[in-house]
Amino acid sequence: MKTSGKIAATQKFCQRAPKPLVFVPTMGALHEGHASLIRKAKILAGKKGTVAVSIFVNPTQFGPKEDFSKYPRAVQADNALCRSLGVNLLFRPASEEMYFKSPSIQVQEGKLSTVLCGASRPGHFNGVCTVVTKLFHIVQPDIAIFGEKDWQQLAIIRRMVRDLNFPIQIIGGAIVRESDGLAMSSRNHYLSCRERSLAPFLSLALQEAKSLYHSGECRASVFAASIKKTLSKLSGTRVDYIQVVDSENLQPLSKVGDRSATIALAVFFGKTRLIDNIQLSLK
Ligand code: PAJ
Repeated sequence: MKTSGKIAATQKFCQRAPKPLVFVPTMGALHEGHASLIRKAKILAGKKGTVAVSIFVNPTQFGPKEDFSKYPRAVQADNALCRSLGVNLLFRPASEEMYFKSPSIQVQEGKLSTVLCGASRPGHFNGVCTVVTKLFHIVQPDIAIFGEKDWQQLAIIRRMVRDLNFPIQIIGGAIVRESDGLAMSSRNHYLSCRERSLAPFLSLALQEAKSLYHSGECRASVFAASIKKTLSKLSGTRVDYIQVVDSENLQPLSKVGDRSATIALAVFFGKTRLIDNIQLSLK
């Protein structure tokens, strides 16, 4: 595995790397959710292709009061995991390498990022789009993989690639969960024992809503009320949003009709904000 912190060397390596070049961008503190994307990348790259992973805790996607400085970093463990999964290139740029002192251009998304996490975290998706654009220019992959855990991020990246003509195929990877249903996340480390014991109710509440859908319910308000009722029993938590949206354009829906829908939620457990979602695919 080649490890590089330098943009020029990474660009050179990637330009010469055997194709297809499959890319998994991450912020590190890797867990089984990331590993599943890397395994998918290995399959897509085949025996001859190349798998590149980036680890960069991107400051521009964190708000001023968010957890940038305490975001978990696990350099040795991440290196070992990437090596064991057969990653060909691990790109770990320093912040000074990625950003000029006063950059004057960024990538702004103006529609899909106005809802859900984008409404609660102003500027977050501009930070994501900008850093992913930079990473795409450095790595120039044929395929890039993003997790469905961050459904809004995946939808926005698909839109960015479409609207800005990146010659990159975007592939989603299914959400990997703990055995009790909690979606794996680097932020789960922040939870106290008590919060950790309550956190699986997020996926349970989403599954209950999906069961309602399968029994014929289609009203968004009924799904939201069912989820709210389950979550209201959890003391010390605060719902940020529960929303039913069109899976592709993320516009809020009042009814699930003939297009795929996503129920997405964000809930604070103390100071830790967890997100999850479930797909209501067409019957
Ligand atoms: P990070 O949170 O490290 O996630 C990297 C990738 O792993 C994302 O595509 C995310 O959706 C996926 N992922 C995280 N948890 C997952 C789970 N439980 N199951 C499946 N996939 C999961 O997302 C980011 O980093 C950043 O915003 C980034 C795209 C790297 C830009 O900075």
